[in-house]
Amino acid sequence: MTNPVQQAILGRRSIRAFRPDAVTEDQLAALTAAALASPSAMDRQPWEFLFITKAAVLDQIAASALKTFEAQGNLALVERIQSRGGTILYGAPLLVIITLPKDSPAMNHADVGIAAQTLALAAQGLGLGSCIVAMAGAAFQGPDAEACRAAVGWEEGREFALSVVIGSPATTKDAHAVHPEKIRRVD
Ligand SMILES: Cc1cc2nc3c(=O)[nH]c(=O)nc-3n(C[C@H](O)[C@H](O)[C@H](O)COP(=O)(O)O)c2cc1C
Repeated sequence: MTNPVQQAILGRRSIRAFRPDAVTEDQLAALTAAALASPSAMDRQPWEFLFITKAAVLDQIAASALKTFEAQGNLALVERIQSRGGTILYGAPLLVIITLPKDSPAMNHADVGIAAQTLALAAQGLGLGSCIVAMAGAAFQGPDAEACRAAVGWEEGREFALSVVIGSPATTKDAHAVHPEKIRRVD
C-alpha cells in the first residue's frame, strides 16, 4: 500500500521501549499542530495538551504512578510494569498528557481518544514511535499526586483524561491480531 496515511495507520504499534534521543523542535511543532488539528464534538476542543520533555518530571510522573499502584495494593500490575522495564513511560523523551474539565461528558472523552490517535499517527508519520498510556493518570491520584500536579502546572478544575508517550523506538512489535469478523457489511 503506497498511500502514506494508510501506511501510518497500519504501521503504528504501541512501542514500549524508547531511545533517549530528544524529540526535535521540528518534530514537536508537527506534533503540536497535529494535536490542535484533531476534530471534536461541536468543535468544542475541550482538551488541554501538556507536552512534557523535562526528564526529571517524566521520572517523577512514572514513579508517582507506580507508587499509586503500590498504595492500592495492585501488586500484579506493579509486577507487570517491572517486567516491562519498571516504568510506565517506557523511557520516552516526550509525554503528552491530555486533560479535560472535571466530570466531562463521554463525548469529550471520545474527543480525547481521537486526539491521542491523531498524535500517535502524527508520530508514526515522523518516523517516531508512540504508546497511548492511560496508566499515567495514576500519577495524579496517589500519594504524590499534588507534587506531580505542581511539577507540570496543572490547572484547577481539570482532570487527567489520557496520555501518549512518543520518541524514537528502541524496539519493534508485531501488529495486534485482527478480527475480520468484527466488520459487518450491509450492502
Ligand atoms: C485508551 C487506551 C489506553 C491504553 N493504555 C495503555 C497503558 O496505560 N499502558 C500501555 O502500555 N499501553 C496502553 N495502551 C496500548 C494498548 O495496550 C495497545 O493499543 C493494544 O495492546 C494493541 O496494540 P497496538 O497498539 O500495538 O496495536 C492503551 C491503548 C488505548 C487505546
